Amino acid sequence: MTQRSVILGCGHYLPRNVWTNDDLRARGVDTTDEWIQQRTGIKQRHAATENEKTSDLAIAAARMALHNAGITADQLDGIVLATTTPDCTFPATAVKVQAALGMTRGFAFDVQSVCSGFLYALSVANNFIITGQAKHLLVIGAETLTRLLNWHDRTTCVLFGDGAGAVVLGAATGTGTVADRGILSTHLHSDGRTHDLLYTNGGPGSNGQVGTIQMEGKEVFKHAVTRLAEVVDEALNANHLNKSDIDWLIPHQANERIILAMAEKLSLPTDRVIITIGEHANTSAASVPLALAHGQQKNKFKPGQLLLLETMGAGLSWGAALIRW
Ligand code: ACO
Repeated sequence: MTQRSVILGCGHYLPRNVWTNDDLRARGVDTTDEWIQQRTGIKQRHAATENEKTSDLAIAAARMALHNAGITADQLDGIVLATTTPDCTFPATAVKVQAALGMTRGFAFDVQSVCSGFLYALSVANNFIITGQAKHLLVIGAETLTRLLNWHDRTTCVLFGDGAGAVVLGAATGTGTVADRGILSTHLHSDGRTHDLLYTNGGPGSNGQVGTIQMEGKEVFKHAVTRLAEVVDEALNANHLNKSDIDWLIPHQANERIILAMAEKLSLPTDRVIITIGEHANTSAASVPLALAHGQQKNKFKPGQLLLLETMGAGLSWGAALIRW
């Protein structure tokens, strides 16, 4: 007998404000809709309104995930929230979600691994469940990345958007084989030597500023293609599975060209890949759970199918998870 973490429900929230590529141009960004779509696949992004905080997005996604899971907040043992754009330097954004949900027991904390954040959070939560320390956990990826943009830097400001995605994990008993429902394994990596390829030029412990995103896009792109292929092989090998066993790819939505390169490596047709970058842009830690929620809402995933989640972000950090739906 093995403990497994099963996804009981997904939720999402996207701010009502939508900015198309042409809207950015109208704001004075020296770009074109054609360049952005051709180089990235992005058509539009959602942007939090002035009064919307990361916690507001997270709370909305969390409520939907709880509803879809059919459980109430008082059944939760904890919340693990991935974000790079917390409401405040401290306390954790997760505790605001905890309070808003009316959850008066258990724990709530944030993890920060930028675009890889959700897989890091999922991995931490999975470990609480498989070691028997929790039965129900809420895992959230929530971001207001548009607050970290330099609108004079066209190489980064066109790439990001705001949103939140959430899943409720529940403990289930499995047989310990890859036929089990739930998370089969998670695989996390980082290489701090590449921290200066993607960073913000500010922070509470350095200059006291929030900073804006700085990125060596071409270098990050090269790392992404190589590292993602490695971690996907690692996940498949760990479970003695082949790429032909994968039913769905739920990738981080940073660049459609990276997503399609990965689909080709896996010999997966594009209709087996959840692609939301056109509508959401890169929402960092929210990207994978938003894509997952999108797939679930469209009833794409069937019981027993194998889902591969993968992500790459600043750090550089990257990871993958295999989930039997
Ligand atoms: N509009 C118009 N032209 C532009 C824009 C723009 N928004 N941005 C750049 N250009 C120009 C450049 O100035 C350059 O012009 P030049 O040839 O005259 O110098 C030309 O377009 C090509 O620029 P590149 O930077 O070489 O474009 P590239 O094809 O590499 O695409 C991109 C850039 C989209 C950033 C790509 O490199 C990428 O997606 N990188 C990976 C991003 C990623 O995966 N990030 C990880 C997650 S993010 C996180 O963790 C926060």
